Amino acid sequence: MFSALVLDTENGGVRARVRQLEERDLPAAGPDEVRLEVLYSSLNYKDGLAVTGSGQVIRGEYPIVPGIDLVGRVLRSNHDAFTEGELAIGTGWQLGEVDWGGYTQRAKVAGRKLVPLPDGLSPAQAMTIGTAGFTAMLSVMALEEHQVQPDDGEVVVTGASGGAGSIAVALLDILGYDVVASTGSEEAHEYLRGLGADRIVDRREFGDGPIRPMESGAWAGAIDAVGGDTLATLIAQLQRHGSVASFGNAGGHDLHTTVLPFILRGINLLGIDSNTCPNDRRRTAWRRLADLLDENHYERIRARTVSLDDIPDASRGLLAGQVQGRIVVNVQG
Ligand SMILES: NC(=O)c1ccc[n+]([C@@H]2O[C@H](COP(=O)([O-])OP(=O)(O)OC[C@H]3O[C@@H](n4cnc5c(N)ncnc54)[C@H](OP(=O)(O)O)[C@@H]3O)[C@@H](O)[C@H]2O)c1
Repeated sequence: MFSALVLDTENGGVRARVRQLEERDLPAAGPDEVRLEVLYSSLNYKDGLAVTGSGQVIRGEYPIVPGIDLVGRVLRSNHDAFTEGELAIGTGWQLGEVDWGGYTQRAKVAGRKLVPLPDGLSPAQAMTIGTAGFTAMLSVMALEEHQVQPDDGEVVVTGASGGAGSIAVALLDILGYDVVASTGSEEAHEYLRGLGADRIVDRREFGDGPIRPMESGAWAGAIDAVGGDTLATLIAQLQRHGSVASFGNAGGHDLHTTVLPFILRGINLLGIDSNTCPNDRRRTAWRRLADLLDENHYERIRARTVSLDDIPDASRGLLAGQVQGRIVVNVQG
């Protein structure tokens, strides 16, 4: 028997409770199935929506175990890349949305959805990073691939105090960029400076959209968690051949812009989807995260550890905006 946080429908709503399950309760994961002893998971905004039943996150059948991230030890593997005893990371790829996710002490996951835990990264550190930090790394990689160089000028990160934004600030700083953090949270200023922000701007500077289709070119690059009018402003304010990596919609999903910055300045709008990121690129991103972040960064990134039992309360706090930084779930604790 093992413990798992299971979501089920009840009286038209969703109920989350920790239940005792057996191996045979876990849905099969296909011919390349890997059985895992899950060690840690994390709590992302999407997980908060799923656990509280407040968003259309679950696209699989109930009952289901949520949790879009996991790291665990391989117990048995039908996939060539994994052998018993190794540690593996799973993020996205429908985990915790269609397939059973990480809030369980045992899991069956398709091997093609896993990557090996890179050397130098502990399981708890991997979940401090989680989907948020992985998305931040993919965003930085996209800027690099579009020739945004550290000496080109400032790179701005919006939603900077959030899980993904804060790790993006740290990664850009480590790589030598001049980092500007855009935040709506005054209490986060010191935190963001500690992570490497060279300058902080109030998020209201971007929130109303641009006044003109092209404004003065302020940014060599941008990483955007917010979307909506914030992204429209960034597009209007990018320097010639600058790029913005768009991964979030914390402020809205509409985008009102013009083609002018694209055809007159050659700017690039780069879409980031961590969920379906191909596995080769995942391995590269995780390897780079392991190489770039050191102990000091993990100490600075605000991370709180909770147990399976704590997840429903922590989810409500997350959705109410009462959480800064990351929430790690100690699944065995
Ligand atoms: N594409 C992908 O693969 C992917 C992966 C992960 C997450 N996401 C999405 O990316 C976004 C951020 O994720 P996260 O995990 O970093 O979330 P998070 O920890 O909740 O952070 C979001 C941040 O956005 C800012 N914000 C919140 N509401 C806002 C509003 N109404 N207007 C402007 N700014 C607002 C806040 O930062 P400040 O207080 O500092 O302004 C907040 O801390 C979410 O939309 C999430 O769904 C996408």
